[in-house]
Amino acid sequence: MNRKLAVTLIALVVAVAFAGTMTFAFAGTPPETIVIDKAKDKKLGVTFPHKEHTETYSCETCHHTAKTPEEAVSCFVCHGVKPDIPDPSQMSSKKNPFHILCKTCHSDLKKQKKDTGPTKCSGCHNAE
Ligand code: HEC
Ligand code: HEC
Ligand code: HEC
Ligand code: HEC
Repeated sequence: MNRKLAVTLIALVVAVAFAGTMTFAFAGTPPETIVIDKAKDKKLGVTFPHKEHTETYSCETCHHTAKTPEEAVSCFVCHGVKPDIPDPSQMSSKKNPFHILCKTCHSDLKKQKKDTGPTKCSGCHNAE
């Protein structure tokens, strides 16, 4: 094997290995903070401290049956796509999946006088 080819091959192997690690690291680590702003034209987006919540709650609390990062997918894969699933474009607390999930938990904890997250609009909708 000539030297140039060997160097090229090594570089290629390193590149592939590196790409592999990156994919693995991403798949193995749920996001720390997520800005949910699909509706930013109507309402300021929401900065969601994902990691903070995973320290207290299991993945299934929010991702239905998903237990691992590989199984946990964006809510928008289903919500807003199929008519019989709660639609994120609904504003109400009873119909918007995020309001049902996020606001209900925060309000329930507030009623129980426990540590909780925001219950006011601007507490969540503050991502500039
Ligand atoms: C308090 C609710 C909550 C908990 C608990 C939670 N997640 Fe999430 N997670 C979310 C929300 C909301 C999103 C944003 C989804 C979106 O943008 O559609 C998200 C996004 C993700 C994403 C990125 C999906 C994508 O493609 O954008 C991954 C991966 C993920 N979560 C994994 C996990 C794992 C693993 C756990 C358990 C260790 C977990 N989550 C616990 C609510 C939660
Ligand atoms: C694979 C598709 C899928 C994904 C991904 C998904 N959902 Fe759902 N979700 C559903 C279906 C289907 C229903 C309706 C279930 C029913 O009617 O009982 C539902 C219902 C809900 C409800 C209403 C439950 C109730 O008690 O009324 C909430 C809240 C919700 N989802 C939040 C979320 C959030 C937040 C995410 C992302 C972290 C998410 N979902 C991701 C399919 C999905
Ligand atoms: C606990 C957090 C939280 C609170 C409190 C909250 N929201 Fe939201 N809301 C969300 C999240 C998350 C979304 C999804 C944001 C997106 O997709 O851009 C959302 C979406 C919306 C949307 C966009 C719907 C669409 O058209 O897609 C409107 C409008 C809205 N909220 C209004 C309100 C109002 C008004 C209040 C106060 C009465 C409020 N929200 C309180 C979390 C919250
Ligand atoms: C099952 C209960 C539960 C659900 C579901 C939940 N939260 Fe929370 N959230 C909490 C608790 C408890 C805290 C307070 C954590 C603390 O301060 O230690 C909190 C804190 C927060 C904070 C404040 C963080 C800070 O550092 O000040 C924000 C913002 C927030 N939540 C947004 C959301 C959004 C957006 C969703 C939905 C995508 C959501 N939460 C879903 C329980 C929940």
